[in-house]
Amino acid sequence: MSSLTASGLSRLLGEWNAGATPGYRELADVVRLLVLDGRVALDTALPSERALSEALGVSRTMVTAAYGLLREQGFLTGGQGSRSRTRIPRLTPAGTTLFTGPARNDPALTAPGLAAPEGLIDLAYASLPASGEVVHRAFAAALTELPALLPGFGYDALGLLPLREAVAARYTAAGAPTTAGQIMVTSGAQHALNIILRSLAGRQDRVLVEHPSYPNALDAIRAAGCRPVPVAFSAGPGTGTRGARAHGALAGAAQAWDMAALQAVLQQQRPRLAYVVPDFHNPTGQLMPDLQRRHLVRAAAAAGTVLVVDETLRELNLDGVETAPVAAFSPAVVTIGSLSKSHWGGLRTGWIRASEDLVQRFAAARTSLDLGGPLMEQLAAAHLVRALDEPLPARIAALRDSRAALLELLAGHLPEWEATYPSGGLSAWCRLPAPISTALTVIAPDFGIRLAAGPRFGIGGAFERYLRVPFTLPPDKLEAAVLALRSAQDRLEAAPQLRRTLKSAPAVAIA
Ligand SMILES: Cc1ncc(COP(=O)(O)O)c(C=O)c1O
Repeated sequence: MSSLTASGLSRLLGEWNAGATPGYRELADVVRLLVLDGRVALDTALPSERALSEALGVSRTMVTAAYGLLREQGFLTGGQGSRSRTRIPRLTPAGTTLFTGPARNDPALTAPGLAAPEGLIDLAYASLPASGEVVHRAFAAALTELPALLPGFGYDALGLLPLREAVAARYTAAGAPTTAGQIMVTSGAQHALNIILRSLAGRQDRVLVEHPSYPNALDAIRAAGCRPVPVAFSAGPGTGTRGARAHGALAGAAQAWDMAALQAVLQQQRPRLAYVVPDFHNPTGQLMPDLQRRHLVRAAAAAGTVLVVDETLRELNLDGVETAPVAAFSPAVVTIGSLSKSHWGGLRTGWIRASEDLVQRFAAARTSLDLGGPLMEQLAAAHLVRALDEPLPARIAALRDSRAALLELLAGHLPEWEATYPSGGLSAWCRLPAPISTALTVIAPDFGIRLAAGPRFGIGGAFERYLRVPFTLPPDKLEAAVLALRSAQDRLEAAPQLRRTLKSAPAVAIA
């Protein structure tokens, strides 16, 4: 923790008083700017009101009013006896930490992605708020680097070199030697998939997908005019059950990749692409073992299929089981990465790793979508990727607690549900006692929650018996959510005719 003297702050403030009125507002604005651009670090104790008013030669009332305004805006804590400290506004209820969910009437309801409308507990998003202050610090550093880029045009289809180098170094360290020329920066993983589809798949082309799979990826594949070819997971002893025992968590059926089925579909249908999420598969949270990765790469090569591996959730490795990135098994693999789950979805920064030739193709295909990513985000992302592991221990520890809480709550309140044991990622995939997923989703808001119906994760109406339940909320919110699920299911059981009349779930955003 640092502190600033009155003369130190007055030096940083410089010519703050441009004569605008009221003066206290002007003073508050300049202090806020210093905090936002990183010149005054977070958690810095500011000088007392008396000392600052003397140093600036203004009335104490003016400084009191400026500090008061900053406190109101969330840029200062403390006061009244203790030194005021700098902070950035939290749009979530005071006193909560990593996993914060807004309450009704909270200003957080106006922040994108933090809450479902009307303050419902949101189980449709499997996403987290930003990783502490790391993201803010990266942007503060980026702001000081931006002037060096301003003389250029600012368009760069491949992305900023320092970021591409940082991403390449991560792959190299993980066992997949990579050059910066093999990396293209994108606006997140979803954007990356769209660029890959646009470049490598034509209308009517087959694209193998796991079944269930990530809904927005299925939408992208369908929107590209391709035909998704689903391969079911097999129920049975996978990594999940072993993990559950090792960690003493309560869990139901495991799900695992059915390698025989994958191989058969690749061989018989020879899809143009195969889109897979081996690193904490969304929605089941399963991890593909190295041996299966090797087999999958071979089978795809034999079929002439381009393997597209989505590693968006790879860093959320809750049980610490080590695997090699799929790209380590073959240079032909196309990998998608993102900072959305390790750091923050609001960064909208991801990447594609592929051969240098393919990366050039992707860059050419991109220009019909956009002309490059925003540079500030990329400067900040380069800092985040270089210190990628920094925010992860706290994030993983909190997720482990929430996972254990969710599995226990489900076992306690909904014992007839069978949840997969997710060894990583952000969600469990639950088998329901009856095909009620859509009906549950439709009545969920009456019970204060928002859900994503199971069929969103499949093709042709499958998964009416399943529900993805994220463990991204703190345990107390999860308890409220599971009790709400219990009540919603009770309502359906008490009024079976509801199930027949509630046929379609509202179209809600999912992540
Ligand atoms: C498997 C998977 N891929 C892609 C995405 C989207 O990532 P991004 O926010 O980087 O576009 C998500 C987000 O939930 C995801 O789970």
